[in-house]
Amino acid sequence: MDHRAACFNPVMAQTEVMVEVFAVASGKGGTGKTTAALALGMALAEEYTVTVVDADTGMANLLFHTGLDDADVTLHDLLIEGRTATVSDAVYDRFGMRVVPCGTSLDGFRAADPDRLREVIAELSRESDVVLLDSPATLAAKSAVLPVVLADRTITVLQPTIPALSDGLKLREYARSYGTGSAGVIFNRVADPSAVDRITEHTERYFDGPILGVVPESDAVQDAREAGEPLLAHAPDAAAARAFADIAAKLDVQQQDAAAVADRFRSAVIPDSPSGE
Ligand SMILES: Nc1ncnc2c1ncn2[C@@H]1O[C@H](COP(=O)(O)OP(=O)(O)OP(=O)(O)O)[C@@H](O)[C@H]1O
Ligand SMILES: [Mg+2]
Repeated sequence: MDHRAACFNPVMAQTEVMVEVFAVASGKGGTGKTTAALALGMALAEEYTVTVVDADTGMANLLFHTGLDDADVTLHDLLIEGRTATVSDAVYDRFGMRVVPCGTSLDGFRAADPDRLREVIAELSRESDVVLLDSPATLAAKSAVLPVVLADRTITVLQPTIPALSDGLKLREYARSYGTGSAGVIFNRVADPSAVDRITEHTERYFDGPILGVVPESDAVQDAREAGEPLLAHAPDAAAARAFADIAAKLDVQQQDAAAVADRFRSAVIPDSPSGE
């Protein structure tokens, strides 16, 4: 279905721009957030204008997954005081998506003012149907809580274990306290499907969102990273790629007026991290 046709309203058509912003998060490192953000982004890009942002400003690595290692302008350049770069300077068309990479230098991170992310995402959301924020692993700094606070909904990427679910629940509790909804959970790196069976009941009981799908452990994921390509570009027929594509098809994107979303970002009071850092 063409969502633009579905949204068409002759009165609003001139001004109405719709968007949903997702934070791809986990509460834990190395669960597959970056892999998932790019895989879902590529799949959703078949229907929507998708922007994937490396919002992991302290430990950025999305650039390596998209062949943008040498990107001239990155998110860091947009977060410094008195910046000269425009937001569009940091947007790269890659694999059918708009990709905003982040630099990897410590100096770049130190100079970046996390509060400025609000304005950047507001601007990106005006030009996208879907924004995916590849989020940091923990909530240990102001820069790390921002994506979860600003997003409309989280997509939580977990391995199917009780400790991982417990980390994911903490993240959800925090996100919910800022009014961020839940699109659901992805179980990733699943080598043994019975591990998911064992945790399904707990997940359904405690987690405020559906289990969106299960992605198998696959060598294709690391191969794609080494090739500097998203999984869906590198190995679209791999079982893991197909699983992400199925999950993207299940995401009922709930777009809202981009101007209202932009206003919400601008007025958001950004908390310090839960640990007060
Ligand atoms: N389904 C999978 N099968 C095999 N390996 C995977 C899978 N998903 C992710 N990986 C591997 O796990 C590692 C972490 O993946 P990724 O960088 O996407 O996670 P992350 O949650 O973004 O990590 P970080 O918290 O460091 O940002 C990478 O080496 C990646 O290749
Ligand atoms: Mg990552």
